[in-house]
Amino acid sequence: MSFIGKKELVEKNDTVILFLSVNTIYALEVVDKIPNKHGNMVENKFQTIYGVLTVMDLVGKRYGSRITLPKGWCYLLHPTCELWTKTVNHRTQIIYTPDISLIIFGLDLKPGCKVIEAGTGTGSLSHSLIRTVFPTGHLFTFDFHQIRADLAREEFQKHGLSEWVTVGHRDVITDGFDVDVLVDAVFLDLPCPWEVVPHVRRSLRRCGKICTFSPCIEQVQKTCEALKGTKAFENIRTQEVLQRPLSVQLRTLISFDLTPQTEDVCTVEDVVEDSMEGEDEAKIGTKRKLQEKKPHNLKPVKRDQCRFRSIIPPATMPGHTGYLTFATMIVPPASDSSIKVDQVEHEQDALAS
Ligand SMILES: C[S@@+](CC[C@H](N)C(=O)[O-])C[C@H]1O[C@@H](n2cnc3c(N)ncnc32)[C@H](O)[C@@H]1O
Repeated sequence: MSFIGKKELVEKNDTVILFLSVNTIYALEVVDKIPNKHGNMVENKFQTIYGVLTVMDLVGKRYGSRITLPKGWCYLLHPTCELWTKTVNHRTQIIYTPDISLIIFGLDLKPGCKVIEAGTGTGSLSHSLIRTVFPTGHLFTFDFHQIRADLAREEFQKHGLSEWVTVGHRDVITDGFDVDVLVDAVFLDLPCPWEVVPHVRRSLRRCGKICTFSPCIEQVQKTCEALKGTKAFENIRTQEVLQRPLSVQLRTLISFDLTPQTEDVCTVEDVVEDSMEGEDEAKIGTKRKLQEKKPHNLKPVKRDQCRFRSIIPPATMPGHTGYLTFATMIVPPASDSSIKVDQVEHEQDALAS
């Protein structure tokens, strides 16, 4: 199976998406046995809110079709990078689709680009990077956590993406990137991106772009200082993605008749009797004028109501996952004998555009 191509029918070993509702989506591997919590291999049955699904029963079913469950139904979807990001089991904090879109746009990625990523983490971003550079580009992704690197490699294999990705197990701060070509873009999602800037200087082509993802503004400050310090980067800017969903709803507006209703209005004499006994003449005169102008017991009368469409903003707006800092390297890469500077043509194209 490939996340990039599309298949008609489910086959054994596919990764499929079960869509029960907008907030209830699962990725499943269509295999007959899975390990239980004791490590024993058992039949692959998946418990949903609508009952149990025997996963192998999906073989031969059409992608996009409705699947009947004991107490309801769900949709069987072909996997995409976006659905994978929604359903993947997190091995680390991951990057989500709104940030992924801005990263791909800000790094100016397209088919044919070569990209370095560190760290790989759960591989959420990597899937979208691979799809973007496919079919002639390549992703080099690194993580210093052996198990994470191995699991990501295994997943890329299962998802039919291995041809366009190389997963490396290394510490990119101490060892840099093990890549012998100049790349078009570098993306860093690790705690100290500023420490990797010298390695980026060696691996990025002239006019190539870097993007770093950091949750804290102090990390952003250090990264910007490191980038400026090299005098090699221009157009350094930091952005964050905030989502503001708007809900279109039918609302009812009631209008009131505020003119005084005669039966509700007190006479001046009533007011004087009620509250002015024993007060001097001057005060009584002033109060009387006020009371005459402002009758009490005034009750608004519901006059009209109209229904109209309105747009309701959310009461809260969660959205901040991290700051994205972008920059463009305006000088040739720092010299390093291990890098093949075989991209002169490519650079000239980039400078001309
Ligand atoms: C937040 S996760 C990346 C998540 C990833 N962007 C995703 O969307 O799934 C950060 C990863 O960076 C790795 N890491 C941290 N420091 C590193 C370093 N110096 N060299 C290589 N990997 C590093 C960690 O092991 C971790 O897996």
